[in-house]
Amino acid sequence: MPYIDSILKENRIFYPSHEFSRKSRIKNMQEYSRLYKKSIEAPEKFWGEKANELDWFRKWDIVLRNDMGFFKWFEGGQLNVSHNCLDRIVKSGKKSKIALIWEPETGESKKYTYEELLKEVCKFANVLKKIGVKKGNVVQIYLPMIPELPIAMLACARIGAIHSVVFAGFSSDALKDRIQDSKADLLITSDGSFRNEKVYPLKENADAALKNCPTIKNVVVVKRAENNADMQNGRDFWWHDLINDKNVMDSCEPESLHAEESLFILYTSGTTGKPKGILHTQAGYLLFTHLTFKLIFDIKDNDIYFCTADIGWITGHSYIVYGPLSNGATIVMYEGSPTFPSPDRFWRVVEKHKATIFYTAPTAIRALAKEGNEWPDNCDLSSLRLLGTVGEPINPEAWVWYHKCIGKGKCPIVDTWWQTETGGILISPLPGATPLKPGSATKPFFGIIADVLREDGSRANVNEGGYLVIRNPWPGMLRTVWNDPKRYKSSYFEKFGVYLTGDSARIDEDGYFWIMGRIDDVIKVAGHRIGSAEVESSLVSHEAVAEAAIVPYPHDIKGQAIYAFVVLKKNFRKSEELKEELKIHVSKTMGPIAKPDKMQFADDLPKTRSGKIMRRILKAIAEGSKDYGNIMTLADPGVVDALAKNRVK
Ligand code: WT7
Repeated sequence: MPYIDSILKENRIFYPSHEFSRKSRIKNMQEYSRLYKKSIEAPEKFWGEKANELDWFRKWDIVLRNDMGFFKWFEGGQLNVSHNCLDRIVKSGKKSKIALIWEPETGESKKYTYEELLKEVCKFANVLKKIGVKKGNVVQIYLPMIPELPIAMLACARIGAIHSVVFAGFSSDALKDRIQDSKADLLITSDGSFRNEKVYPLKENADAALKNCPTIKNVVVVKRAENNADMQNGRDFWWHDLINDKNVMDSCEPESLHAEESLFILYTSGTTGKPKGILHTQAGYLLFTHLTFKLIFDIKDNDIYFCTADIGWITGHSYIVYGPLSNGATIVMYEGSPTFPSPDRFWRVVEKHKATIFYTAPTAIRALAKEGNEWPDNCDLSSLRLLGTVGEPINPEAWVWYHKCIGKGKCPIVDTWWQTETGGILISPLPGATPLKPGSATKPFFGIIADVLREDGSRANVNEGGYLVIRNPWPGMLRTVWNDPKRYKSSYFEKFGVYLTGDSARIDEDGYFWIMGRIDDVIKVAGHRIGSAEVESSLVSHEAVAEAAIVPYPHDIKGQAIYAFVVLKKNFRKSEELKEELKIHVSKTMGPIAKPDKMQFADDLPKTRSGKIMRRILKAIAEGSKDYGNIMTLADPGVVDALAKNRVK
């Protein structure tokens, strides 16, 4: 990358300043090691002690129980997540502290104190009850980044309803699939959402999805875009009508919930088939997001924390909503795109709200770095004291740019590795303690035993790549796959008997973890998790397509992008128009983030004699490499050359 003025040595180490360390909770590696040792030698004692930081209606009987491979945390205990995120903070004397600063794409920002947020949540919780939502019901939420989104989630948590948020950038088909799987009773959406000043018709998408979703009884619609949404009599209600009803009270007793009752479902892509509904439960998830947020972001009372993720992904659930609020933090929530109206948008938001902590994805860092240093240089970023990244490996060049041009060399960077399934961060620096190596997520968090294994289950050597696994249970881990406990076991525990992450990694001579990327058929496009199988079935659902195979190829900004090999049915002609039509088809059926960047028509795909597509070979072709490995096991080795010749550059 041309904007870096010095030659990078990847063995550079960055230490936190004495000033930063002195003020932080974990001040050095001795302290980290001592506490880490304690946490893995006596995990139940460790987590039991930490759990006392939360408010319980009833204390637990047992910290951890392994129920035939399904892990239960804090059984016998009862609490309420929204009570812990709101009432507990209000009662601690912070009722007038700002909980949420909402920065819309255009227009005035809006602030909620903890007391105001609590009232809004209570009002909406009462609304939910009034329209018949009961404890244990699933509420599907399809909303853009507006305050009603966290309010709806917390209101569900308050009454014991299970929320299932679908990213507002997903298509109506994707929404339909998720509702059919979750069997939700209620849908919450908005008339539209804004991005780059364009309006996306969410309600229209929702209506299309609902034609095939008989479980949904009602729809609550937030007015955001004023685009005359079509409201179905008796089924659809405006949010503002419901909440402004004079009979709706602004207090609502929080439901006392068992530690292992369901809190939320969040769908994510796996190796095969449809997305899986990852289930998280009450107490363990809350404790884990609470503690990781507190220590990894080393949160202080006067911090202003800005996370650019969308709440439709796990990062937003854990580190915009539950982790920060349970710590009484002030959150900046931004609605639009990083480059609207100009590429300094994030930096302007930092400047405007004097953000002290900034958490984003490597893809955004690369994209904004490319725009040139004048954008951040013209903003006052002096409020920043800590930076974070998440979602994909960060290349050292981008890391150093972030450190230098955004952090001005004085802010530690926490490169946080985790997944939808893990609930919270598992591998990350502690900013006041850990010496940083650009590109490494460094060391496991307290209570986490991470390891790298070979195919045969033995431990990899120092610097030898292998399967990243977690050897022990932790409170924030997924509890099951919604409606599919078999898939929980087969996806995560079958291969090695310990939690399989799906990533490859290596551990260096200092015990630092270097995440190398997905080892399965999941592709990380701009940090978004896309299942190749899902894109392939979307393509095959088009009348012209006989067969399709999807592989990743390296991309400067997105990290990885999607390369599609498509075999057409006999009576369809290869043309650029058809290519475009197929790309749009994927975008419509899945959402724009899954749209293939490159597409190649093929007469045949490389298959084994038993008919299995050899993606390894397709991946090499897409990358322009001749490193195919052994091709003699193919039914027809000749297809490889033919494909390579027509590679889309
Ligand atoms: C996958 C999980 C967890 C929040 C967002 C993504 C990749 C995540 C890092 C990191 C390298 C990372 C992994 C992981 N990933 N963080 N710091 N360094 N890779 O959640 O959509 O469930 O994706 O994201 O490949 O398996 P997700």
